[in-house]
Amino acid sequence: MNKKLLAVIFGAGLMLAACGGGDDEAKDTGTTDTGTTDSTETASVDAEKIVNSKCISCHGGNLEGQGNFPALADVGSRLSEDEILNVILNGRGTMPGKIIEGADAEAVAAWLAEKK
Ligand code: HEC
Repeated sequence: MNKKLLAVIFGAGLMLAACGGGDDEAKDTGTTDTGTTDSTETASVDAEKIVNSKCISCHGGNLEGQGNFPALADVGSRLSEDEILNVILNGRGTMPGKIIEGADAEAVAAWLAEKK
């Protein structure tokens, strides 16, 4: 994971703590989980749903790939979670970056990394 990305993730976490907590001590402990921001937590993101709405137009309805678009159904056997996240955020070749971002991108990368 590159430093810029870490900074973005960390920054987002701090913002959440600042908005949701209102408690100075929460920042000092480094605790960014306020327990009230479900939609931004990776665990609650439905990666499969995101992929089905944002990625299948190119990668195929069953992620089997088509033409110049590689299959994602077995992408975990070729790329690590970090590498997948990198493709999603930065794009590669003719694949545009930033179709999804933040917790969505992370959840999808983790989900795809399991596909072997
Ligand atoms: C506009 C078409 C398009 C869309 C939409 C798209 N991709 Fe891609 N994707 C591509 C192309 C083309 C490549 C091959 C890039 C290359 O040639 O290096 C690719 C490659 C990839 C790879 C690397 C695969 C490998 O085997 O190396 C991953 C991972 C990936 N895409 C994930 C996603 C995810 C997740 C989404 C949805 C958020 C998505 N893509 C949406 C076109 C697309």
